[in-house]
Amino acid sequence: MLKCVVNGSNKLYGDVRVQGSKNASLPILAAAILCEGETVIHNIPDITDIGIMLNLLRELGCKVTEEGKSVIINSMELNCMYVRDELVAQMRSSIIILGALLSRGQDVKISYPGGCSIGLRPIDLHLKALKKLGADIREENGYIFCKATRLKGADISLDFPSVGATENIILASATAEGTCVIRNAAKEPEIIDLQGYLNACGARVSGAGTDTVTVTGVPKLRCSEYTIMADRIAAGTYMAACHMTGGDVFLRGVTREGIGAIYDTMLAAGADMREQRDGLRISSDGRVKPIDKLTTMPYPGFPTDMQPQISTMLCVADGVSIVKETIFENRFRHIVQLLKMGADITTEGNTAIIKGVSHLYGARVYAEDLRAGAALIIAALRAEGQSEIYGVNYILRGYDDIDGTLRALGADIKIVENIKEERASV
Ligand code: EPZ
Repeated sequence: MLKCVVNGSNKLYGDVRVQGSKNASLPILAAAILCEGETVIHNIPDITDIGIMLNLLRELGCKVTEEGKSVIINSMELNCMYVRDELVAQMRSSIIILGALLSRGQDVKISYPGGCSIGLRPIDLHLKALKKLGADIREENGYIFCKATRLKGADISLDFPSVGATENIILASATAEGTCVIRNAAKEPEIIDLQGYLNACGARVSGAGTDTVTVTGVPKLRCSEYTIMADRIAAGTYMAACHMTGGDVFLRGVTREGIGAIYDTMLAAGADMREQRDGLRISSDGRVKPIDKLTTMPYPGFPTDMQPQISTMLCVADGVSIVKETIFENRFRHIVQLLKMGADITTEGNTAIIKGVSHLYGARVYAEDLRAGAALIIAALRAEGQSEIYGVNYILRGYDDIDGTLRALGADIKIVENIKEERASV
């Protein structure tokens, strides 16, 4: 098992090339199933979740080759439509391949992904929409059985702008008959990236980034070459780290428009933010301003994936901040760990009241999910003394070389083998 050891208080200075987006890569890798022949995707992050997705594609019969940050996928030999339970259990967002597999017109069997540590994460919106497209879906004993049928475009209104459901419907309707209109669609930038990839393959998708996405089915998709967008959440994580410690960091490959509410939140918290050619610059004296009320919302609102990191940054603000989590029901798992480091946070349901303190102290803490783990690293970078962060495997699911990136900026951080991992008392 691994642990992350951080000696805090170093300021961060330097230039970061932001990794490719995990949440754009996963649906685009699933979309490669639709393309006949060899498709090449660049700027894929080297993270565990991508490894799981590539193994999943291999198990389905795709030929997958990795060359640095590029992946070459040939799905011509796709021959298996049963997705092994262990893979689905490892990564709940593997449900994203369902729409793509249905588009290949074969029977599919996949285990119900179930929840994860941040919430129950049901897939009712996915299944309801796919049935509207004509998919013959039966749920039995924890499995989802889908009969191969020629899917037909439909007018679908989502009860909630679910990112995954929007992506699954786009994938299922790309080669369906007729036209599919998705109303109350999720507007995240990762969906614009999916649209860009599919249209590069000859699909006809429009409206991504708005609440109405239209997909006109085409007989088949050709292969193409595509480069994944930068990861706005990774960028936001490094911004929060820099404001926490103080310093001056240039984040290459992201734009203010792309990171939207994260940029505005950093400004509100007192960071000096500037747009420059090919990236964003953050400068900070380490003094964090409180934020009266921060509420997570679907895009373009403040993203839930940045809530743990910003909540952590607000732990050293000079005042009280209120953070409300409205997307997932269990996304405060970093808080009990932060209390061990000297933070002053109380929670009432889905609301955290964060009273800024002048110091955080190094401690032994345990990451319980991806973004909570990143938040603990941010806290440790500011804390006085040494911190040991366990549960590093969660962090490596979504961050490509996070310790190397931070070390290059001046942090005293390393991820090491932990011979005997003692679970921190939570
Ligand atoms: C995507 O998850 C992201 N994952 C998540 O990032 C992100 O937090 C989330 O979108 C919201 O932005 C990937 O893209 C791989 P949703 P997804 O469907 O698609 C409820 C990270 O840290 N819902 O938009 O699963 C659901 O329970 C990860 O990188 C239903 O009720 O999110 C949740 O409360 C975490 N029924 C809300 O909608 C459904 O059928 C948002 O879920 C589907 C969702």
